[in-house]
Amino acid sequence: MSHFVIRGGRRLEGEAGIQGAKNSVLPILAATLLTAGQVELRGCPRLRDVDASVRILEGLGCTTRWEEENTLVVDTGNLYGYAVSEALMREMRSSAIFLGAILARCGQAELSYPGGCELGPRPIDLHLSGLRDLGAEIDDAGGVLHCKASRLQGREVVLSLPSVGATENLMLAACGASGVTTIAGAAQEPEIVDLQNFLTACGARVSGAGTSTVSVEGGRPLHGCTYTIMPDRIVAATYLCAAVSAGGDIYLRRAREEHLSTVTAVLREAGCVIRSDERGIACTCRNRPAAVRPVRTAPYPGFPTDAQAILMASLLRCRGAVVFEENMFANRYRHVDELARMGADIRVSGRAAVVTGVKNLHGAPVRCTDLRGGAALCVAALAAEGETEVSEIGHIDRGYEDVARDLRNLGADIFRVEDENAEFTRR
Ligand code: UD1
Repeated sequence: MSHFVIRGGRRLEGEAGIQGAKNSVLPILAATLLTAGQVELRGCPRLRDVDASVRILEGLGCTTRWEEENTLVVDTGNLYGYAVSEALMREMRSSAIFLGAILARCGQAELSYPGGCELGPRPIDLHLSGLRDLGAEIDDAGGVLHCKASRLQGREVVLSLPSVGATENLMLAACGASGVTTIAGAAQEPEIVDLQNFLTACGARVSGAGTSTVSVEGGRPLHGCTYTIMPDRIVAATYLCAAVSAGGDIYLRRAREEHLSTVTAVLREAGCVIRSDERGIACTCRNRPAAVRPVRTAPYPGFPTDAQAILMASLLRCRGAVVFEENMFANRYRHVDELARMGADIRVSGRAAVVTGVKNLHGAPVRCTDLRGGAALCVAALAAEGETEVSEIGHIDRGYEDVARDLRNLGADIFRVEDENAEFTRR
């Protein structure tokens, strides 16, 4: 199996560029189905989840090609299918995002139920009830979702909690509905603004993304466009946390602090000096981090759940204790047992985890349990004495284009040992 070997204890120094955002490109790939034409996506990250989305698009009859390292061209002109296979649904839980777009384009859609994932149950009840509000008939018997809508009709849809995926799914379905759809209680993540910007570039009328009410004037024919994916704020957070963990002086090109302000506020509290401009973010961390006030995950603009594990990993050697509260997913402390193998002192009780800073961490064989938990192991290993072997890194490939390359650019001692039989290999 592919794994990383990391020799810790080296201060980071250097520059790295931030890849395009995974959570932005996935809904935008689904949104290409709404266009009659060719879409050129620049800054498209080469990820396992992007590969899975491309296979879903191709399975529906679209053609795709990589032009340069990070430019993906999608042509949906010859779409003939409306069903996504169970194998592809299993590969990427967030493939439910294709539902709204397929329904809007084809008038019907067939997907298997996404079920649970590494983070716990992954319900899509809000997606389904919102689509029903727009006029879709959905039969979810037997683990397969059969959806039909001869005509989608815009109206007000109220989300009882600000689900990112449900907001995006409804925005896509609403583009194919007649009249105006208003999504109240919408999620406000920057990736939703990116989706709005993409749809607008294709000729759609969407407004309000980034606030709790998103409006879509549907029924307009959408055309192709060239669009650049926004930088990945969680990848940027990961490398900032790497500098906190190992100590360092780094610069992240394209990172945007306005997307990360709750994370940088905590890092400043921990003693880092962070400066940003329109080109990127510079971060200097000299000492062992200070303990910070409790960190509670919440929907945007709150502290992102996706940065919980990596921040925790960066504070394992803090001076004092830090309380974490995970409010978004039931099963998001699976990295804790692995971090403990490196000498971390973490106690978990329900939603809370208390990290008591230790003086030293040591290298150990550890195993990724999920995408961000896996990145957290790398962050911790950079501060550990000796060698850490991080296995099951397929989880990390879902969201990081090349974490070893980026961390090496920042001065870390990390290399990847490739499994010859791996399905997804780095290019
Ligand atoms: C997205 C992100 C993921 C991030 C999460 C929360 C993508 C591809 N993934 O996931 O990285 O961790 O936002 O910021 O963008 N819920 C329901 N019913 C629903 C939908 C969601 O109860 O129909 C609950 C979920 O169980 C969870 C919460 O709402 O507790 C937030 O989930 P949601 O915002 O939908 O996350 P995703 O869109 O799946």
